[in-house]
Amino acid sequence: MKILRSVDEVRAQSSAWRSRNLKIALVPTMGYLHAGHLSLVQQAREHADRVIVSIFVNPTQFGPNEDLDRYPRDFARDEQLCSQAGVDAVFYPEPAVMYAPDHSTWVLEDSLSQTLCGASRPVHFRGVTTVVLKLFNICGCQLAVFGRKDAQQALIIQRMVRDLNVPVELILAPLVREADGLALSSRNKFLSPEERQQALNIYKGIQQAKETFRQGCRNAAELIAPLRQRITDAGGKVDYVEVMAQATLRPLTAIDQPALLAVAAFFGKTRLIDNLFLEV
Ligand code: PAF
Repeated sequence: MKILRSVDEVRAQSSAWRSRNLKIALVPTMGYLHAGHLSLVQQAREHADRVIVSIFVNPTQFGPNEDLDRYPRDFARDEQLCSQAGVDAVFYPEPAVMYAPDHSTWVLEDSLSQTLCGASRPVHFRGVTTVVLKLFNICGCQLAVFGRKDAQQALIIQRMVRDLNVPVELILAPLVREADGLALSSRNKFLSPEERQQALNIYKGIQQAKETFRQGCRNAAELIAPLRQRITDAGGKVDYVEVMAQATLRPLTAIDQPALLAVAAFFGKTRLIDNLFLEV
């Protein structure tokens, strides 16, 4: 497995692969890898000949008061996991490789990014779309894999690819959970044992909403209210619990089209997200 740190190194590797007609998949990550990321790598391996994992804690997607400095990092461990998972190359750039000091060009998705995480994290998606397009351009990948855990991110990247005619095929992979149901996240390590137990109520509440939906309920408020209550009762602070149309990420009252039940909540200082795709 190769560790590539500069844009030129990645370009040279990717050109060599492409000249042999090998299909390249990119799995963009911020590192501190877990089984969710490895499931993305697995998907990439199934659909391409060579897999690049990028590991870059992208500063431009963190707001001034967010956890950029605290974000967990462990490159040695990530490297080992990637190698075991059959990754061909890891792109591990320093921030200065990705951003010139006078960087001033941004990719701005202007609609889907207004609600949910975009409402509480104003510069977040601008940073995500910009870095993802940069990574696509650097890696010359034909395919990229994103997780549905970050549902809004996945939908925004799909929209960017469509709107800007980006020649990259996307695979959106299912959310992966711990054995007890907690959605895998690099931020889970910040939860105290007690907070982790409390946070399980996000999953339990989503399961309850799933069952209510399965039984035929199409009233968004009836899915939202018990979930919100459950998180609050468990000591969590709700950022949002919403049912949105998948096509617009605007709230639905009646679930009459493909929808997304999306949750963000704080347990202690840790902000967790989770979701359920509702197909009608
Ligand atoms: O999902 C993430 O880890 C990040 O938002 C991504 C897509 C790697 C961009 O920095």
